[in-house]
Amino acid sequence: MKRFLAMMLAGTMCLSMAACAKPADSGTGDSGAAGGEGGEKKTVGVCIYKFDDAFMTTYRNALQSMLEEKGYEVSVVDGNNDQAKQTEQINTFITQGVDALIINPVMTSAADTIISAVKDADIPTVLINREPTAEQMAAYDKLVYVGCDAAQSGTFQGELILDTENKGDINGDGKVSYIMIQGDPENIDAKLRTEYSVKALTDAGMEVEQLDLQRGDWDRNKGQEIAQNDLAKFGDQIEVVFCNNDDMAIGALQAIQAANRTVNKDIYLVGVDALDAALNEVVAGNMTGTVLNDAQGQATQAVASMEELLGGKTFAEGEQSVYVDYVKVTPENAKDYIK
Ligand code: GAL
Repeated sequence: MKRFLAMMLAGTMCLSMAACAKPADSGTGDSGAAGGEGGEKKTVGVCIYKFDDAFMTTYRNALQSMLEEKGYEVSVVDGNNDQAKQTEQINTFITQGVDALIINPVMTSAADTIISAVKDADIPTVLINREPTAEQMAAYDKLVYVGCDAAQSGTFQGELILDTENKGDINGDGKVSYIMIQGDPENIDAKLRTEYSVKALTDAGMEVEQLDLQRGDWDRNKGQEIAQNDLAKFGDQIEVVFCNNDDMAIGALQAIQAANRTVNKDIYLVGVDALDAALNEVVAGNMTGTVLNDAQGQATQAVASMEELLGGKTFAEGEQSVYVDYVKVTPENAKDYIK
């Protein structure tokens, strides 16, 4: 713990001062759970896949303040969307002897490497946001995954379209013509949202036509570019713009407005996350709806799972995933979620 602190103060791992923990003596709140022997604080290393991600920014800020309020010594690091870099950061935390790790993997495919490293070091670990398979997690019983059931968010997106007056078939030609702006396709959230949003329509008996599917990597600018190109190419044929997240939907909205199209009149637009910016657009009628990806709830659960692990609890295969519910967000309830 002292070594951890010394290294942190030396700035060897604090990539951004804002992301670093407060000094040991500035903790507030209940330090009981976090206090180690002799009153020393327990240390937690938090690895985020990249800081430049709108949803993960809300999530990591929630995590950091919850952990600090509980009296933990926290260090949050930016993986810069580079798995090799994140693996190094995890190894550094291990060398420093942190008490627990919370990891948002860069690549789900790196789960085996990450799990074997934390297992060898015997460090209780909570994986967040990018779900490995149950078999991968079963390799280590001091490991929990906290996230959401991505299929549910896709289903809610489809239902938001089904709830419109023409069920997404604006031109009445008997089919819903859509474009899909996908997140990072390696990510299960992107895969399942893409699949289940459309499945909700077909399950309800609607015919669908996919005009285009492009990866936007969760990024606003890419969402804007993809929508702009598709609007130029397909014009009025596009009835629905499905975006795997809100940041891309906000980008798509800029393109929709620039093309003089009007959301909820001649085109529908849905996202996921319930970022404040998107909630404001839903209230204003510029987005058809979104789905709350509950950062606060997931951070609370991640900390609770970490504390169970720190208390000595182990988890058997099949019991290692904890899911927080998504919530469908419409103009009626959007205001309730603005922070
Ligand atoms: C998703 C979220 C996206 C992005 C992604 C990162 O759950 O909806 O906006 O943050 O996680 O893995």
